[in-house]
Amino acid sequence: MSDAIRIYVPREAAAVSLGADDVAARIAEAADKHKSDIEIVRNGSWGIAWLEPLVEVSVDGQRIAYGPVGPDDVDGLVAAGLFDGGDHRLKLGPTEEIDWLKNQDRWTFRRCGLIDPLSLDDYEANGGFAGLRTAFDKGTAYVLEQVKASGLRGRGGAGFPTGIKWQTVADASGAQKYITCNADEGDSGTFSDRILMESDPLTLIEGMLIAGYAVGANKGYIYLRAEYPLTRQVLGKAIKLARSHGWLGENIEGSGFDFEIDLHIGAGSYICGEETAMLESLEGKAGVIRYRPPLPAIEGLFGKPTVVNNVVTLGSVPDILALGGEAYAAHGVGRSKGTLAFQLAGNIKRGGLVEKAFGLTLRELIEDWGGGTASGRDVRAVQIGGPLGAYFPEKLLDTPLDYEAFIEAGGMIGHGGIVVFDDTVDMSAQARFAMEFCAIESCGKCTPCRIGSVRGVEVIDRIVGNEKREDNLNLLNDLCDTMIDGSLCAMGGMTPFPVRSAVEHFPEDFNK
Ligand SMILES: Cc1cc2nc3c(=O)[nH]c(=O)nc-3n(C[C@H](O)[C@H](O)[C@H](O)COP(=O)(O)O)c2cc1C
Ligand code: SF4
Repeated sequence: MSDAIRIYVPREAAAVSLGADDVAARIAEAADKHKSDIEIVRNGSWGIAWLEPLVEVSVDGQRIAYGPVGPDDVDGLVAAGLFDGGDHRLKLGPTEEIDWLKNQDRWTFRRCGLIDPLSLDDYEANGGFAGLRTAFDKGTAYVLEQVKASGLRGRGGAGFPTGIKWQTVADASGAQKYITCNADEGDSGTFSDRILMESDPLTLIEGMLIAGYAVGANKGYIYLRAEYPLTRQVLGKAIKLARSHGWLGENIEGSGFDFEIDLHIGAGSYICGEETAMLESLEGKAGVIRYRPPLPAIEGLFGKPTVVNNVVTLGSVPDILALGGEAYAAHGVGRSKGTLAFQLAGNIKRGGLVEKAFGLTLRELIEDWGGGTASGRDVRAVQIGGPLGAYFPEKLLDTPLDYEAFIEAGGMIGHGGIVVFDDTVDMSAQARFAMEFCAIESCGKCTPCRIGSVRGVEVIDRIVGNEKREDNLNLLNDLCDTMIDGSLCAMGGMTPFPVRSAVEHFPEDFNK
């Protein structure tokens, strides 16, 4: 190992958008000027978006953090002794001691920020490929058993048990099967898939390998959101790296198992995140929903049995194999086992990613981690679960983050994106936006969604315009029933959730 001082500067989209590339360049210049021997590692992100770019220096084996560091802070930091962990107003102390991180339950994201995302050595030194090795060692039945025992449910939105999905594909007949990874991440306020792929992409590759091994698939596809160019670069390099070291290809680790991964760029459409539209898009067709049955697990990509899983679902699997399903199931509450990467966004003072075991309350997340609103005003509404999620008023903030508790309260956790609004929000505008979003993003296959969403915008306009308010409120209610009962997929079937929750919890905004 070289004696150079290791400086970590994230190469992750949020940090880069805040100047991390310039910060890295300025640090290199300053080191040159001071003749300091440094090595800049472009790590991923710890998920502490409000402190990005978060720069670290390794001093006597300990990582000392500074943040948020802008390019213009670099000269001052170097003069204050950055390379020795010197004091400065931006010094945060040892990274592992930062409260925001210390109080999390990091499982899936435990290597994010810590390692160089494109170093196989770093990955393996921090437990990488231990799950795959266990899988090869113990066999497919063991893998399926452990994933079931873990209680892992799909993190893409629907919360379907992963072990049952995998078992269905494993049991389906046919020589050709596929693993598809849904990396379309279209929900508002979500970025956990992106952070994982940019910060620890080999975890996703390992998760896909384990899935392929378990169900008998030799080919995987990652369907990546078109709006993630940096992720595309990192993931593309990680796939090449894995391939060049024998972690993809034929006879992986002498196991006799072959597996390949293709990276496919999405079509810039929200509906392409729905699994059947994603499969259509992967096949080169327009992203239109398929009728179900048959389920993708029976007849999926190119008509073959297919696993469709979200990035975080697949990324949670390696440690489930390495540490055992029971270890994962020991976290969480009720049927919500393990951890979820909650994403704090919108009007929030401290935004970012918080991986916690299920069971804490929304209030704890927003107040303890998020520090309340960025505007300093009162929280009025919170939307959880993306654009199809309900709006919760302040009185529901004590709802525990648990799939079933949320359904009972009229909402859904979905992909764990939490978008906060202060007391200046106009909830009739938010309800209108939900219908408008559906009208724009609808695949058009069924009438309740395609036409209903357009009519929904018009009805809300009439309510707000004080045109026969009571009649139009009743009409909106009927329309919501029709969309829920008659839509082919959750796009039309759930758009009524944000609309109805806005009317129910914030009626005053519809009567101005
Ligand atoms: C309109 C719509 C959009 C969706 N977008 C995504 C998405 O961007 N990413 C995702 O993983 N799942 C998305 N889903 C959920 C997928 O249909 C599917 O349930 C999921 O990919 C399955 O993986 P999981 O079991 O690991 O969650 C969406 C669903 C709907 C109805
Ligand atoms: S509900 Fe909307 S998005 Fe879903 S199939 Fe019908 S038209 Fe397409």
